[in-house]
Amino acid sequence: MSSNLPIGIFDSGIGGLTVASAIHQLLPKEELIYFGDTAHLPYGDKSPEAIKYFSLKIGKFLLDKQCKLIVIACNTASSLAYQDLVDFLGDQIPVINVIDPVVDYVVHQPELRSIGVIGTKATIKTDVYARKINAIKPQLVVKSLPTPLLAPMIEEGFFSNTISKTVINSYLSSPKLKTIDSLILACTHYPLIKPEIEEYYKKTVKIINTAEIVAQYVQQRLKDLDLLNATEPKRHQFYVSDYTPSFEKSTKLFFGEKIHLKQHNIWS
Ligand code: DGL
Repeated sequence: MSSNLPIGIFDSGIGGLTVASAIHQLLPKEELIYFGDTAHLPYGDKSPEAIKYFSLKIGKFLLDKQCKLIVIACNTASSLAYQDLVDFLGDQIPVINVIDPVVDYVVHQPELRSIGVIGTKATIKTDVYARKINAIKPQLVVKSLPTPLLAPMIEEGFFSNTISKTVINSYLSSPKLKTIDSLILACTHYPLIKPEIEEYYKKTVKIINTAEIVAQYVQQRLKDLDLLNATEPKRHQFYVSDYTPSFEKSTKLFFGEKIHLKQHNIWS
């Protein structure tokens, strides 16, 4: 496999651009091929079977695009479809999810005792963070809360305002998140409300931004595989399964720069 091949990244929609952005910032020489499954958004309310089916189709698309590595940028797909994707494609291409790098990070922070996790209903229902963290460090307490309103709220541009403050405060004041010392943002969209979450906790809780941790993990994995690109990258490509101007407009929020989305139907 050649190091100048692209990195494939996918998500249920455009939220995974936060992960793509973190990878782009850290590894500007890497070419990215992004696929957002906007036709089936949100994954957070879908059945495990549907999420697995969509993820395998997208994985095959990225393999056919000759990617050198696949990053499942979506927490929900990482929770439910990672193993299936590895079983399906793992002998042809390395696959990275957004959970294992964070678990690895958390268990190596000796000051942490009680970790909160917020994400979609589907992610939280799997209890994947608690299972993976406690398999390595059983003494760590993991407290999880589904926060399903946050992703659509952010996507509609409601953050840093009174509505987002009310919704965020209402979730974070839940007894389920009492006495945590850290909080994992287990959803693609949440880096955009990190400042508001920090403001709520007034620096008493460490906020764990998964996108940056995943980008560092991707860098290390490519280095280990001797696949870091040293040449000038080609242009990134951004695909969605259902194009709307509103998605294209929102990309700037998530990626930090204007993006041109191409519609690509992989379902027929
Ligand atoms: N991308 C999803 C995640 O990170 C959030 C949006 C959705 O429910 O599809 O879990």
